[in-house]
Amino acid sequence: MNKSQPIGIFDSGVGGTSIWKEIHELLPNEHTIYLSDSKNAPYGLKTQEEIIALSIKNTEKLLELNCKLIVIACNTATTNAIKVLRSSYRIPFIGIEPAIKPAALKSTNKAIGILATRGTLSSELFAQTSELYTKDIQVVEVEGNGLVELIEAGKTNTPEMIGLLQQLLKPMLDARIDYLVLGCSHYPYLIPVLQEILPDTVKIIDSGEAVAKQTKIILAERDLLNDNPEVISNSFFSNANPDVLSSIISSEEQNYNVETLDF
Ligand code: SIN
Repeated sequence: MNKSQPIGIFDSGVGGTSIWKEIHELLPNEHTIYLSDSKNAPYGLKTQEEIIALSIKNTEKLLELNCKLIVIACNTATTNAIKVLRSSYRIPFIGIEPAIKPAALKSTNKAIGILATRGTLSSELFAQTSELYTKDIQVVEVEGNGLVELIEAGKTNTPEMIGLLQQLLKPMLDARIDYLVLGCSHYPYLIPVLQEILPDTVKIIDSGEAVAKQTKIILAERDLLNDNPEVISNSFFSNANPDVLSSIISSEEQNYNVETLDF
């Protein structure tokens, strides 16, 4: 392993770019390779076996592309597959889990909402974390069915999305939550719409910054931070139509390329 190798990031689609942005902001000297498995999105309703198989496929591609660390920028893949990946490969993996702990600790109403996929909400890892931090808290868990599909289609701020979110958030608002945990890396793209729908008393928490910080810690521990940056490259690969990925990235970034790749 050497310091100039890229950080690999994968997600079921474009949502993990919200994590890529946090990593790029904190670690601007790192080369990155992002895999958008849009062909197989969403992962949220797949079986654990399917999610593990897709996560292995993405990992193999990132290893082939010479990555030094892999960020699983997908809650569903993390909660269902990180254990298997860590036991099967020597490369370090960073995962993303819903930020239940900070929400539970900060909630004064003692009521929090968690919006995530069925795959995440039904996972063992999620159940363990939830049990640990929410003993005296009312947790309103809602499956965000349909949200990833709309985000993948570039329909983030549309009447269809607003209608769906209003319906999904209703049980949380009825329970008077004061924290909403975004348990899917696609959902940070909904924050502007969510802020229009939610009362000011509800704060939104996602895990992107924590993932970036953890990535930095692990690279530093292994002496793998790139301290000799020349021109940094950020490559984004999609195995389906890359238009939405291009539109998300091109407005943000100078040294980038978005391509289609078979994986
Ligand atoms: C999905 O592919 O259904 C969602 C990805 C995630 O859980 O972050």
